[in-house]
Parts: sequence; C-alpha cells; structure tokens
Amino acid sequence: MSSAEINDFVERVNERTDIYAVVSRYVQLTQKSGRYWGCCPFHSEKTASFSVSADKGLFYCFGCGAGGNAFKFLSLIENISYFDAVKLQAERLGIDLPKRKLSPEEENRFREEKILLKINSIAQDFYHECLIKTARGEVGRKYLAQRGITPETISTFRLGFAPEEWEELLTHLTRQDFTPQQIEAAGLAVKRTTSGYYDKFRSRVMIPISDVRGRVVGFGGRILTAGDENTPKYLNSPETALFNKRKLLFGLDKSNRAITKSGTAIVVEGYMDAISLFSAGVQNVVATLGTAFTPEHANLIVRYAKKVIFCYDSDEAGQNATVRALPIVQAVGAEVFVVQVPDGKDPDEFIRKHGKSAFDELVKNALPLIDYRIKFVIDHADLSSIYGRIRALQDILPVVVPIRNPFVRSEYRKQISARLVLDEDLVREEWQKFVTKRNRERREPERIPTAVKREKLPAEENPLIREACEVILRMAWHESEIIDYVMEAVPMDLLSTEHREIIAWLKACSVAGIHHNEIRAANELKEGTYAQLSRLLIDGTDEPRDTELAIFYDAINFLKRTVLKRKYETLLTQMPQYQAGDSEAYNKTLQEVNEIRQQLYQPVNRN
Ligand code: GTP
Ligand code: MN
Repeated sequence: MSSAEINDFVERVNERTDIYAVVSRYVQLTQKSGRYWGCCPFHSEKTASFSVSADKGLFYCFGCGAGGNAFKFLSLIENISYFDAVKLQAERLGIDLPKRKLSPEEENRFREEKILLKINSIAQDFYHECLIKTARGEVGRKYLAQRGITPETISTFRLGFAPEEWEELLTHLTRQDFTPQQIEAAGLAVKRTTSGYYDKFRSRVMIPISDVRGRVVGFGGRILTAGDENTPKYLNSPETALFNKRKLLFGLDKSNRAITKSGTAIVVEGYMDAISLFSAGVQNVVATLGTAFTPEHANLIVRYAKKVIFCYDSDEAGQNATVRALPIVQAVGAEVFVVQVPDGKDPDEFIRKHGKSAFDELVKNALPLIDYRIKFVIDHADLSSIYGRIRALQDILPVVVPIRNPFVRSEYRKQISARLVLDEDLVREEWQKFVTKRNRERREPERIPTAVKREKLPAEENPLIREACEVILRMAWHESEIIDYVMEAVPMDLLSTEHREIIAWLKACSVAGIHHNEIRAANELKEGTYAQLSRLLIDGTDEPRDTELAIFYDAINFLKRTVLKRKYETLLTQMPQYQAGDSEAYNKTLQEVNEIRQQLYQPVNRN
C-alpha cells in the first residue's frame, strides 16, 4: 500500500466513524451539556470525568489526561497500534482493507499457513468423526462420558479421538495430496529414524485448539488412562508456524463474547477446566496451554475485559503459578482477582461436584489481588518466629504501599499487624522506611534543579499564560491561514514544549500544502502533545465569531505584555548596578525601561 492509499483508506474509515458509537461499546455514556460523560476506562474512578464530544469526534478524560479521536480511543482500549485501530474499525464498519502487494516471502508464508490451516481443519474433522461415528472411537466416547462430558459439549468443542494405528491420519491426508513433510510441518506427523513418517497423536482424546478467529492451529491430546511415567498425560502440537503457546488462549474463540459482555475473564490452567466450566454455563473462561501466563496472554485478554479472575488448581503448583501471573496482568492495567477452589483439586472437579451456582458464588467472593497476595505470603511464612513474621511483612509491603486511598491503606496496616502478630507501630515504621527508600530510588535519575525547570516551562507554571496559549492554538487549528501571523506575533518562548510542537507541526503542514487533521496529528505528534491538543480542542467554547476573535487578540496581547513586564522587571533590577559609574549603560537601560512602560500602557492594538 502506498502512503497515499493508506491516507485515503484512513480518511474513508474516519468519515464513517461515529465516536459515540465507538466509545459506547466500552463505556456507558450519558448526555450532559452538549457532551457525553462516563467513567474513564483508562483509570479507575467513581465520578465521571471522561467526556466525548460527538461533533468534534474527540474524547478527553479530565481525570487522567487521556484524549484523542476514535482511533486513538480504540488503540488505547484494545491495546493495539493506531493503525491496527483503524483496521479494526474498518472491519467493524465492513470497509475492506486496500489490497496490498505482498513480498515474495510474505506470499510464501501466506501460502504455507493456508496449507497448515487446511491440514488442521481436515484433521479436526477426521478425529471428530472417529470419536462420534466409529467403533474405534468407542473407548473415547466412554472416557468422555465418564468425565461427565455430554454429546453437546463434544460437538461444541469438536472434540475427537485419534485411533491407535500408526498411520491413519497420514494416509487420510496424503490421499488428499498433502505431503508427509507438510503434515509434519503442521505438527501431526513425526519422521521415523529409519524412513517414512507416523502419526504423532495415537489413542488420545483430541482437543482442537483454535485462535481467536476460530481457526484450528493445533491440538492437545489426552491419554485415556491415569498415565504412567513414560506416557505424558497430555501431548500438545509442537510449535509450528501457527501454534505458539505463549500467545494462544484455549477457548477464547468461543468465550470472547461472554467475556466482553460480563467484562470479566476467568483464567484456568487446563483444557478440561475450560471445557467443563463453559459447558456448565460459565462461558467467560479461557485456559493457558500448560505454560506460564505470559505478557502476550495478558495483552490479548485485556482486549476483551478489564477484569481478570485467576482460578488455577488449588495445589502448590497452581498457587505458585497464580502468584507469578498476577503482576503480569496488573501491568497491562487490568483489575486482578483470585478464586481459590476449596474442595476438589481443580475448577472442573469443583463444578461437577457442586454445580454452577456454587462456582458463581466462588467467583463473587474472589479475593482482590492485594488480599490474595497477603494471604499467600502469610500461608508460606514461618509465623512462629519474629524473624519469619518480619520477613513476611517485607514481602507484603511492596503490594500495599502503593495503595492511594489513606483509609484503605490504614485498614490494611491494621490487618497486617493483626495477622502477623506485629506491633502496629513497628509496621508503621517499616512502612515509612519502605516509602522513603522507594522515593529515593525514584528521585535519583532526576537531577535538573527545579529553578531551571520552572524557567523552561513558563506555560505549565502559570495558568493564565496557559489559557492564553490554548486560545491561540485553537484559533490556529481552525484558521490555518493565520499560522504565520501567530508565529510572528506570539512570543514563542512563553509556549510550553508541547504547544510549540503543535505550532511547528501546523506550520509544516501549511508549508507542505497538506490539510492538517486529527488523524495526521495523532500519527505525527508525540503522544503527550497529541493528548494536549485533543484536550484544548474539545475544550473549545462555541462562542460567536466576533467574541472568539476578540478573545484571540486579547490572548496575544496578554502574552506580549507578559514578556514586556518580565523584561521591565529584569531591567529594573539591573538599574542600581549601573548607577556607580557606567552612565552609558545606565542611560541605555533607562531608555528601554521607558519604552517598555509606554508600550505597556498604550491602548490595545487590534489590527
Ligand atoms: P485432567 O487430568 O484431564 O483433568 O487434566 P487437567 O485439565 O486438570 O490438567 P492438569 O491440571 O493436570 O494440567 C493443566 C494443563 O497442563 C493441561 O490442560 C495441559 O495443557 C498441561 N499438561 C498437563 N499434563 C501435561 C503433560 O504431561 N504434558 C504436557 N505437555 N502438558 C501437560
Ligand atoms: Mn483436571
């Protein structure tokens, strides 16, 4: 795609995009004084400070400063790049992506992926038919029935059975003109040390694993018996061009709607847990594929829900895996909870034994991350010795110290002293030490003296200057012809770095003869600059034209006078130095002071 084609595509999607429709998919909005308001999805809050201006096509949060157009919103909430957000919105609107010319390598990869997908899809059908229709599948049917898995579930997940023979699937696929090498690449055949190939999966119940789009990318196969040391209980597809356990979550293709709808995703450890919960009606569930929870998983999940509930096995391994997963999910901004399965090793066993409503109750009482973390430390601490209890306190502090609300903080402090049987004053002292240590570590990299910083950021320091700058920028945005006038008339060093960047960018657009717009700004300006631009645009009043112009000129004059006043003050402080003897310098400065005084008290010039 050429850049002109991309721009054209983005414009077309933009034209048909209604920011209200985009945002209200994720945030409940109510209308008030010409804007829509809701609770910001990007930081936690109870009163609505997140606003959407439908006619301007912008959103802005007065609480956390996030702001921008519809694509920016999508990219933030879905954790995807700006251009991916445009593509997602295009998909939702049914607008086709412009056809792109693929490089030969890309074309090759595309072709190979297509073949692997086809092989997987045929294999899925083969295993499924084998399970439900053949005499050989009888053992598989029996096994699943005994685990309480119904024919409906078998059909929903298209579960299957791999027969005992060594070359069944191979023969089936080669008859359809796939080569053994291709079948091996799909992870379904293994090369013999002598010659030829054999089926990788034999005598196993087969669980197809799909990507989010529902395409089968791999399999998990479970043996029918309890298993011995030589046979692994589960055999998974090897890593292939399609199958990457770090990135895949089992069940997401089926559960994503329930996850979006409930705003919550339940993460379990095993396929069988996910299948069992889903079939029992708990449909917002995904499982990892026998690997640790990765940042890729976390990013994938928060595209669907901001609340993640871990429900791993209650054994030691499951609990350790939970503790390791927590910070990973927290890092992507999700709210994290933990369910501990009380009776029975895993969620599958629990729900079969106690039913859906008992499981719902567990979820309702899930522990927030902090409480779980405290419980975990205490469960693993040696509380019989004072050293053990102090060590436990050190392990808990990093989790509780960042709590913002002072009441909640104090509540936790009391709770911790009680549970660790430590004096509250001691806890408070250790807490304070930890805070001091953390603050010192944080401050270290910043060595710029504050005075210098203040000089450099005049607009940030002074709200009146800032307001004047915003008035001017708003005008420059809407009336692109005045950019040269603005650059000449406005004392640029009063502008903040971001405001200067906006002006320079507007000028560059005007020089290049391109019309500036929101989309370009989002692409080309720095993140923070763009957020400020969005805010000042959404903040614009709908004053009548004349008033707007008057405000604009007042703003410019205000800035000019600010510069003069500052200069005047500096000169005045210099005067006494000259009196000693340097009459020439003295006279020159005096003349300047008088000129400035005259200018300051001249009537306002509105040309
Ligand atoms: P069931 O015994 O069938 O109920 O298994 P489960 O779903 O309870 O799984 P378990 O808690 O034993 O293990 C969790 C997950 O780890 C499984 O779903 C598999 O993805 C993976 N896993 C378990 N055992 C093996 C194994 O022997 N090899 C491999 N590669 N993965 C395994
Ligand atoms: Mn199990």
